[in-house]
Amino acid sequence: MSVDRADVRAALLATVPEADADPSSVRLVRSPGRINLIGEHTDYNEGFVLPMAIDREIVIAFVPTDDRLVEITRLDTGAVARVELDGDHERSGTWGDYLAGMATVLVERGVPVRGLRGVIASSLPIAVGLSSSAAIEIAAAWALVGGESPPLPALELARAGQQVEHEFIGVNSGLMDQLAVTLGRRDTALLIDCRSLEHRPVPLPLDRHAIVAVDSGSPRRLGSSAYNQRRAECEAVVSAVAERFEGVHSLRDVNADMLDAVRDTIEATAVARAEHVIGENERVLGCVDALGRGDLPAVGGLLAASHASLRDRFEVSSPALDALVEIAGGVAGVVGARMTGAGFGGSIVAIVERDAIGALRDAIAKEYPARTGLQATVHVVEPVDGAGVVDDGA
Ligand code: GLA
Repeated sequence: MSVDRADVRAALLATVPEADADPSSVRLVRSPGRINLIGEHTDYNEGFVLPMAIDREIVIAFVPTDDRLVEITRLDTGAVARVELDGDHERSGTWGDYLAGMATVLVERGVPVRGLRGVIASSLPIAVGLSSSAAIEIAAAWALVGGESPPLPALELARAGQQVEHEFIGVNSGLMDQLAVTLGRRDTALLIDCRSLEHRPVPLPLDRHAIVAVDSGSPRRLGSSAYNQRRAECEAVVSAVAERFEGVHSLRDVNADMLDAVRDTIEATAVARAEHVIGENERVLGCVDALGRGDLPAVGGLLAASHASLRDRFEVSSPALDALVEIAGGVAGVVGARMTGAGFGGSIVAIVERDAIGALRDAIAKEYPARTGLQATVHVVEPVDGAGVVDDGA
């Protein structure tokens, strides 16, 4: 389900006279979205995550210009975002904030940016927990430097995207999404150690199984303060433990015994948040081991435990996500399912025998609207390479 390159190129030629006059100057860049298999709310605690870049993407077709204006038209709605590269950027609450934010952040990092006229197209659903934000940030970065070479080395590029979230969008996110959409590799997930930023591809059993995202139809409200509040709760635990133990800088340094030692001095909810993170890091490593051994029942058990912990200890699930996980869990051939991404709505991820995808769709269609009053959408996703230039052969 990639964006049709010919469509977006044709739209650019029809909208932008400079492109029509010189089609050889047209460039295409893309960024995938991501789905996280396991390791939720661990990234900003310097823990482990296991995401993959997915074959749903954002594509920008454009011509670089020598002026200081960035003007991009949405292929689907015709809405236009305009950014004056040398002007001040007022936050507008629209997708233009990502462009303006990335332009500012690149310049701050000493990267020259250029004007452009472009068209943006997407096959990535927005605000459903599949990282459309990271995708637009990283695609914008590639476009803003002219679309020929990388805007920055990969890790720094990911950090630039994260900086946009922090300073222009108001979400104190971790680095997982930007790393996943930048470093993703075809056919594999990525195990990332969010402390050292070491990462390695983890093969998935994709011959007989598929990775399935199910959008709950209840939009994720990440900007809402709940995400930032969770992060602050985790930091409060770190401060309490650091008063008693040396060398504690993040929840990655905290074990169950240390948590026990401060249990009576901090809020019970904060303890529960930390228990989630400590357990989730172990589950990520356990999942990578189980995948390596081909032990899919163990993988399924870890996904289920992750969901339960996010629901009961970290409290970022929702009745809709819980219903989807329960429905998926009742379908023969579903290896495991859990909420994915920040939570508070959004999507679940499931590992499903390819032959059982139809049964999963049927079960969701039959049970989910009746239980929740919502409509869910099933997306079978494949792991793809991270962001970059598109060679569409034109
Ligand atoms: C969002 C954030 C990530 C990560 C997840 C939860 O996707 O952008 O940094 O914290 O939530 O795992």
